[in-house]
Amino acid sequence: MDKGPLRVLTVPTTPYSDQRPGSNGLRRKVHVFQSRRNYLHNFIQCIFSSIDLRDRQGSALVVGGDGRFFSQMAIEVIVQMAAANGVSDSTTASLLTLHPGASRSTRTGRHSPVTSPQVGRLIVGHRGFMSTPACSCVIRKFKAIGGIILSAGHSPAGPDGDFGIKFNTANGGPANEAVADKIYQISRSIEEFAICPGLRLDLTTLGKQTFDLENKFKPFTVEIVDAVESYANLMRNIFDFAALKELLSGENRITVKLDAMHGVVGPYVKRILCEELGCPANSAVNCVPSDDFGGQRPDPNLMDAADLLDNMRDGEHDFGAAFDGDGDRNMILGKHGLFVTPSDSVAVIADNIFCIPYFQHSGVRGFARSMPTSAALDRVAKATQIELYETPTGWKFFGNLMDAGRLSLCGEESFGTSGDHIREKDGLWAALAWLSILATRRQSVEDILKYHWLKYGRNYFTRYDYENIDIDAACEMMEDLEIMIADKSFVKRRFAVEDKIYRVEKADNFEYTDPVDSSITRNQGLRIVFSDGSRIIYRLSGSESSGGATVRIYLESYEKEYVFQETQVVLAPLATIALKISQLHHRTGRTGPSVIT
Ligand code: G6P
Repeated sequence: MDKGPLRVLTVPTTPYSDQRPGSNGLRRKVHVFQSRRNYLHNFIQCIFSSIDLRDRQGSALVVGGDGRFFSQMAIEVIVQMAAANGVSDSTTASLLTLHPGASRSTRTGRHSPVTSPQVGRLIVGHRGFMSTPACSCVIRKFKAIGGIILSAGHSPAGPDGDFGIKFNTANGGPANEAVADKIYQISRSIEEFAICPGLRLDLTTLGKQTFDLENKFKPFTVEIVDAVESYANLMRNIFDFAALKELLSGENRITVKLDAMHGVVGPYVKRILCEELGCPANSAVNCVPSDDFGGQRPDPNLMDAADLLDNMRDGEHDFGAAFDGDGDRNMILGKHGLFVTPSDSVAVIADNIFCIPYFQHSGVRGFARSMPTSAALDRVAKATQIELYETPTGWKFFGNLMDAGRLSLCGEESFGTSGDHIREKDGLWAALAWLSILATRRQSVEDILKYHWLKYGRNYFTRYDYENIDIDAACEMMEDLEIMIADKSFVKRRFAVEDKIYRVEKADNFEYTDPVDSSITRNQGLRIVFSDGSRIIYRLSGSESSGGATVRIYLESYEKEYVFQETQVVLAPLATIALKISQLHHRTGRTGPSVIT
């Protein structure tokens, strides 16, 4: 479709001081994007300006998201800005940049043609939709320089909900700290952005659309792609679809319940599980994406996915899974709603990794987990003599290891699990991984989990979240705790709760040295490790958008023999210690956590 020639404008703007990307991009309340002048435009310009000029030349950039409220408006702006920032013929383009400090900055003034960051082609998901794992897949497939994902993951959506912008780089994974910092630095001094306001894209028609711009450079091209098909194709190459089809629709089939929580992954579940692998249509629920996720928080945990849990309780279904708004998180349930903690889930997949054909071919190079994730995976790594990496929270830390060929499978307690087929966590992949184990072992989820605990012992794990805490109180608590645990006398200190006695063996503020590039990431959570391997970890959430702080307390205890106890009972003494030494309730006036996972 030909449009144009379209005007390209340079618009003056003023910087915001709060555009530092968090654990995973920039997350804010929708009204922040709506009410603050150019808040969206500024951040998008900073992303474009952060990309090295040479890398931009003739490259593709991917755009998509989970379809949440404000997405359509944001996609329109991003496309208009990509066009204005894009000159696809490098022979005629004089490449300029928009932010001060970079080479050859421009002061072309309002209404001047901008010949700046070059985006050769935009690849946009059909109707603007693309799950986060599919976006990673598409970036890699098209060898794009990166992708802009419009999502706030598992956070609520709608006019009063959250909106978010994530930037993934050429490996398909979240931008690393250095890139995030570069974006932030630019955001502090941005003075103008470029936009092509008359450009209108038809998001509903697959294929290429080209637009002529008034600057007479090569037309700007947008390609609307079927990300569901690209992703499905990747899955076909990873799993044994014939075996999965037999499991899900053969003579001795199992029954499953999959909850897409009104998120973007619904069509992927329908296409792969129902249309291709033969699950009955009613095994997949909430599969039509809605811009407010049906008014629910699209977070696959026991509280927010309580409907699935209820559904599973009657024992009709053998396997259940739920996914979050952008499809990167997962929760796995067995019959009667048996909950598989994400920490156990990645350990079980590791122990059964060769049930997945992809790993039979690629081999297994390493395992990794984020620091607060339980050490269940470490036990599998030790037994199989496979390297184990402990990284800070945030998927971006796995990418370097994968790119260096040192990591094959990883997981986080925050309901993220994935392999090195992409550089994001992948909810549907995790469900297919579990189904592959069920297809191979022909055992129930419960039997597989119990067998695992009997073989390795059990790492009991729970997380207490205190949401929307006063930031000053939360920071003060963390500072006081850090001072307390840094004192030499803290190590060897004993804590007694009823008949349990814990002796501190190690206490620190976790810091990580990346084994690939030696970069150091500090301040990643306060750890208290006891002599029996039990741990208490305190961490402030990095994905909070409310303006308050979320304090997370992670509790873990290892039992070699007593593996069938109640998690909360086993961990109650540790919880008592954690609350006592932090004085969290006293400091905040709270009487208990907002959520216990
Ligand atoms: C995002 C990231 C995850 C990370 C999580 C931590 O979802 O994608 O990799 O584990 O944030 O969130 P938190 O709120 O604990 O910082």
